[in-house]
Amino acid sequence: MPEPGPHRRALLTLPADTAVGGDERSYGLGPELARAATRFGRTLGEAGLLHVTGVRVPPVLPPTPDRPYAELGHPIGTESPLLALASLVGEVISFADWHAGARVQNLYPLRGEASRQNASNAVYLEMHTETAFRPNTPDALVLLCLRADERVGTLVCDLLDVWAGLDPGTRRALAEPAFAFRLPGGTLTEPKPVASQWRGRLRFNYAEALCAAGEEYERPLRALRAGIEERTVTVTLRTGDLLLIDNTHLVHGRTAYRPRYDGTDRWLQRCLIRAAA
Ligand SMILES: [Fe+2]
Repeated sequence: MPEPGPHRRALLTLPADTAVGGDERSYGLGPELARAATRFGRTLGEAGLLHVTGVRVPPVLPPTPDRPYAELGHPIGTESPLLALASLVGEVISFADWHAGARVQNLYPLRGEASRQNASNAVYLEMHTETAFRPNTPDALVLLCLRADERVGTLVCDLLDVWAGLDPGTRRALAEPAFAFRLPGGTLTEPKPVASQWRGRLRFNYAEALCAAGEEYERPLRALRAGIEERTVTVTLRTGDLLLIDNTHLVHGRTAYRPRYDGTDRWLQRCLIRAAA
């Protein structure tokens, strides 16, 4: 895998400060991280990826649940600081049909979801911008690792880097409303552009499952996929690692793995964020 170019600028690692005036039960976030989150929010559109290590999480966690968190609902202790951090980036949003509308979403493998394309699966999670083409697609997301599984790789790719390597014809095609999802019956959803404008910058909506609505768009889509494959980097999340992802120009995914479904599986918390007006 080649060393990414501009991605190195985007892929920052920041050790978290100790909790703000915290005691043993407090999971506050330090001033350096607060400043970095504020800066991240101000630069959305080119903020890339911020990888923070050493965020304080409860030393003793309950077992990783075996059913959707909406059925459990008790807080872990990291929810308030995570919401506070996300609020420095922008406005935390949620969807009524996702995680029962929760603003802090708990992600872990579920046996019944193993082969689906969602964050609770066990198969390769395809590269995507979060909720691609949805009317209220988030501009950023934050992931906090409560319980790690070092066999698992979080995959990220900066589409601005990929774009820089594409020829003008391919770029023009990707900016046309010509990309859609194929529904089970074979019909396509309304075709939309992969590349569009947002606040004077390029914005991408992408999912590996996209198909071209027209033969002339197949090669550009293949070129984009090849660029993503070439420039994807793997981040191994450890307990207390936090990722801020600029969803306007990064795609993310996850390697396949074998969950144990015994209470020791990987467990993340996530917030979806809309940029401040
Ligand atoms: Fe995702």
